[in-house]
Amino acid sequence: MSFKIAIAGATGNVGREMLDILAERGFPVSEVVALASSRSVNTEVSFGDKTLKVKNLENYDFSDTDICLMSAGGTISQKYSPKIGAQGCVVIDNSSAWRYDADVPLIVPEVNPDAIEGFRKKNIIANPNCSTAQLVVALKPLHDVARIKRLVVSTYQSVSGAGKEGMDELFNQSRAVFVADPIESKKFTKRIAFNVIPHIDVFMDDGSTKEEWKVVAETKKMLDPKIKVTCTAVRVPVFIGHSEAVNIEFESEITADQARDILREAPGCQVIDKREDGGYITPYECAGEDATFISRIREDPTIENGLNIWVVSDNLRKGAALNTIQIAELLVNRGLVKPRQRAA
Ligand code: A2P
Repeated sequence: MSFKIAIAGATGNVGREMLDILAERGFPVSEVVALASSRSVNTEVSFGDKTLKVKNLENYDFSDTDICLMSAGGTISQKYSPKIGAQGCVVIDNSSAWRYDADVPLIVPEVNPDAIEGFRKKNIIANPNCSTAQLVVALKPLHDVARIKRLVVSTYQSVSGAGKEGMDELFNQSRAVFVADPIESKKFTKRIAFNVIPHIDVFMDDGSTKEEWKVVAETKKMLDPKIKVTCTAVRVPVFIGHSEAVNIEFESEITADQARDILREAPGCQVIDKREDGGYITPYECAGEDATFISRIREDPTIENGLNIWVVSDNLRKGAALNTIQIAELLVNRGLVKPRQRAA
């Protein structure tokens, strides 16, 4: 059984990663169609050893496509995903457009695979925000054992989370610093080269940012609505890989050794936690990797049943493209999608 897959946003950071991961994991495809804006029509993207010519999303007919992996931003997804879903093609959307819709499951396969069954109402499944995906992969196995009461999350997010333009801005500003050119900021609100910016996405009425709100809302939707979550999200001058310092308060006692043993066995997790120089992971080392890495596991003596952990993952992979393709694999493995009739 093989499937016709469309990738909307195929020329972007995440879209290109989706093409690579589909090929790497040998997803059963009969055809892959690369879609983007009219600006990119006929440009080429790679899929394994093949080259695909990009087509225009605007006038593409999805009536014989089985799954559309959507990574073209929230506005485009708002406009196109319902139409694509209505054509009988299942959309797995990487934007924030549908994540909080009660009729759209928000899925991390290691965390809440059974929630996928609810996708039929709109034929849309949402992929979480990059920071939340890696966070819940690390937290779920601990929550299952000791029940999490409260989380304090501080993120250190790479510029690739802001798309190709974000990466270009870090590169160009870094070069400008060395050759003493003027620094131009377009994508970020302040200079990102050799700096950190405590602001990702728009401000909310309560003074938090939308990125921080997403971590709170999505953790509750996927893990447990009873958990109290507070977050500070910060952009850092790293190209790929998001890091998080997470303070966890549990209902019942759990030691650092127990947490380490649980996470060593947990799906999608890799523990690198030696209490010595270099015995932890940094984002630079996790780029291109599938795992969510956990380091610096230690007890927090200032609260009852408290732990601190350091969580790092490739935001373009587990935070976006990989998780999207794992959702597609879940659909296929559970027989929730079948190849449609196609003209010979
Ligand atoms: P294009 O390259 O044609 O602009 P990133 O987040 O890395 O910047 O990528 C955004 C992706 O979304 C790109 O593939 C981009 O295509 C695509 N995109 C942006 N606007 C549209 C649109 N109006 N219709 C279809 N795809 C779009």
